[in-house]
Amino acid sequence: MPDDTTMDAFIRDIPKAELHVHIEGTLEPEMLLELGKRNGVALDCASAEECRAAYHFNDLQHFLDLYYAGVEVLVAEQDFYELTTAYLRRAHGDGARHVEVFFDPQSHTPRGVPFAVVVEGIRRALVDAERQLGVSSRLIMCFLRDQSPASAMVTLETARPYRHVIAGVGLDSAEVGHPPRDFKEVFRVARDAGFVAVAHAGEEGPAEYISEALDLLKVARIDHGVRAIDDPALQRRLAGEQIPLTMCPLSNLELQVTPDLSQHPLKRLLDAGLRVTVNSDDPAYFDGYLAANYAAVQHALDLDRDDIAALARNSITSSWLPTARRDQLLAEIDAFVTAAR
Ligand code: HPA
Ligand code: ZN
Repeated sequence: MPDDTTMDAFIRDIPKAELHVHIEGTLEPEMLLELGKRNGVALDCASAEECRAAYHFNDLQHFLDLYYAGVEVLVAEQDFYELTTAYLRRAHGDGARHVEVFFDPQSHTPRGVPFAVVVEGIRRALVDAERQLGVSSRLIMCFLRDQSPASAMVTLETARPYRHVIAGVGLDSAEVGHPPRDFKEVFRVARDAGFVAVAHAGEEGPAEYISEALDLLKVARIDHGVRAIDDPALQRRLAGEQIPLTMCPLSNLELQVTPDLSQHPLKRLLDAGLRVTVNSDDPAYFDGYLAANYAAVQHALDLDRDDIAALARNSITSSWLPTARRDQLLAEIDAFVTAAR
């Protein structure tokens, strides 16, 4: 068997967790068209090929414009159920044993889609997937940072009754010019209510946004964190405190955060002792789910099996699973690695 096949099977089958995926970013063109027809929402493309042909982005905002246009086809509880179920099947096929999924309520509620419809559709799919596929999950509600902190606060209050369903809060959308400090009070209230905090930082924004997210939002993980590569002192802090970075290589490539995957900082940060993980972000738009992201960095950065196993272990230790299930999954990784030798 050629080496590459062996490595691709190793990548696909090693037990792992996905910690950075926007459920709205898993909307494949086929489902986009189907739901557009079902819900009477007009679209700019008439076939899946035509939709996909538009998925070439100059930057984050360019992508977000298409992403927010796409979410408009999501209207009914069943739409969110089908979207989430399709993602979970793909993640399961890529060896994900646990997923922590973002959703963007502020992309739905202003269109008249009730918060309860969004959460209930996603939640029902997560519960069914745990029973049917053995994939456990957590749900993370993101605030759109290019909308006001007041709007985020209203969203947080709407989410309070769902605290038993939603484990954490995050911060996403257009980063530059929307620093973490703007959301300090919202995150304080969210943490006081029992939500774990994460934030996108250092994707297009500078390394200082990563420090701000840690100091002011008191986040448990940094989503992306690519720009940590610019700040050695910050790297020492992230390594010392073992703050997870949920990196998304194919997203970074597609949004031109990195010019080329061979220049992606993932391996340098991993080697510097940071708790780096690999994730898919918006896989329907960035041409690849979880295993494709591992495979892309494996090829571009010449990662070996020990690196892949380290990334898989990091995904488990960075998750919000209880200790017993973490230990079980880490033991499964060890057994898998041993058997693959
Ligand atoms: N970056 C920031 N916000 C987002 C993204 C992303 O890649 N996807 C959905 N919202
Ligand atoms: Zn993201």
